[in-house]
Amino acid sequence: MTEDEQKAAAAAAAVEYIKDGMVVGLGTGSTASKMVDLVGERVKEGLDIIAVPTSEATKQQAEALGINVVGFDDVQVIDLTIDGTDEVDPQMRLIKGGGGAHLREKIVASLSDQMIVIAERKKMVEHLGAFKLPVEVIPFSAHALLPKLEALGCIPSIRQKDGQPFYTDENNLVIDCAFERIDDPEELAQTLSLMPGVVEHGLFIDNADIVLIGTDDGIKKFER
Ligand code: 5RP
Repeated sequence: MTEDEQKAAAAAAAVEYIKDGMVVGLGTGSTASKMVDLVGERVKEGLDIIAVPTSEATKQQAEALGINVVGFDDVQVIDLTIDGTDEVDPQMRLIKGGGGAHLREKIVASLSDQMIVIAERKKMVEHLGAFKLPVEVIPFSAHALLPKLEALGCIPSIRQKDGQPFYTDENNLVIDCAFERIDDPEELAQTLSLMPGVVEHGLFIDNADIVLIGTDDGIKKFER
């Protein structure tokens, strides 16, 4: 199975959890995009849901597929959110934000009754941190935060896209923090959350309820 096929298999398995009448959070990234395509197919077949996208890109994709998309203010509760990840460890802790959408993704996940994470096999890791941890920051604070983040034991760099600083949907910057290995994700998450200028970091400590991994031996399911 290619990585793309593993992502598609995980996406297909996750879409099975969506039922009529649900409010569904739609994640962001290449794996989530496959899931959104499948949701679009089911909507065409008559599935009746309301969707809350986690990025402008996902919103556009969902709308183009005819999915009923609402703003965040229009819902009280989200029944189920399905999203990708950059890393997942054995405690189902995640690093997210490779696509720079982790602020909205975390808000949507935290308001969801259930979060299903979908990914290909290589995203399963023993220790978080090989993937650079994305930290979304207020642009005004970015340069002042670099030495503070470095003091936490990482090499921080302001994310670039096409040779220019990358701006999120909320017009913030992202500092990617190369830790190599994060020994205490909970402690790091708390430290980052308390730093003035940090809007949100990509550590998702207790958000994932179910993890579905596409592998050559079928779907591996992990449950909290
Ligand atoms: C976006 C994310 C994505 O879920 C994460 O980067 C995984 O992306 P992909 O499915 O393309 O590997 O957190 O902010």
